[in-house]
Amino acid sequence: MLHFFKQKPFLADFIPQGYIDIHSHLLPNIDDGAGKIEDTKELIEGLEQLGFSKFITTPHVMSQVWKNTKEGILSNYKDTLHKLPFQDFDKRFRVAAEYMIDSEFESRFSSKSLLTLKENYVLVEMSYLTPPVQLHEMLYELQNIGYKPVLAHPERYNYFHNALANYDDLKDRGCSFQINALSTVGYYGQNITKIADYLLKNNLVDFIGSDVHHTKHVESFKNRIQIKNELLLKEVFLNNSFFDF
Ligand SMILES: [Fe+2]
Repeated sequence: MLHFFKQKPFLADFIPQGYIDIHSHLLPNIDDGAGKIEDTKELIEGLEQLGFSKFITTPHVMSQVWKNTKEGILSNYKDTLHKLPFQDFDKRFRVAAEYMIDSEFESRFSSKSLLTLKENYVLVEMSYLTPPVQLHEMLYELQNIGYKPVLAHPERYNYFHNALANYDDLKDRGCSFQINALSTVGYYGQNITKIADYLLKNNLVDFIGSDVHHTKHVESFKNRIQIKNELLLKEVFLNNSFFDF
């Protein structure tokens, strides 16, 4: 009967060789992620110790809150690369952005100058409080001009938890899904862990990201997973190689 008590594996043990993270807040003093360059360095060192090998970091772009521009993000990125003491880090560290689908999003993507994860793949997020007004129209227009939306942390939108058909609907409308790794260890609460497991089980998850903002996030990779679909989680980690550079 001992197998009933078999402990779950640690999240860190799922990180495959060559893992490329596609969602993080590592640039200093640009959003609610790293504060100073020393924080950036500490976060990267911590993630590399966990086995991360490459990073596409994604500062928030959000009206009223994080009014980052493409130029500002690129300038911060260049400056950060210059200040970090890691050898040839430009080969392992790139920058994109995490765009909030808000009232200013349409004018941003209409200019066709979004910072993308790769080619036309763009990381987008929604408010945690309420779905965006005209979400469907916005997703249609975004794709109409050639972008492919990758929806960040779909498991964290509580307003979908009792309306699960929305997930299939968003996939049908062209979204890829990127869950947060820490959702699998209960970091954001049990409901979010359950939904992450549901999305995995139903083959709705395409990619996984760390969404690391601070050292507590890095440390939490040392926790045990709480989800059932371990094999599917492994596959999703491997999928990130799609964004390799
Ligand atoms: Fe994020």
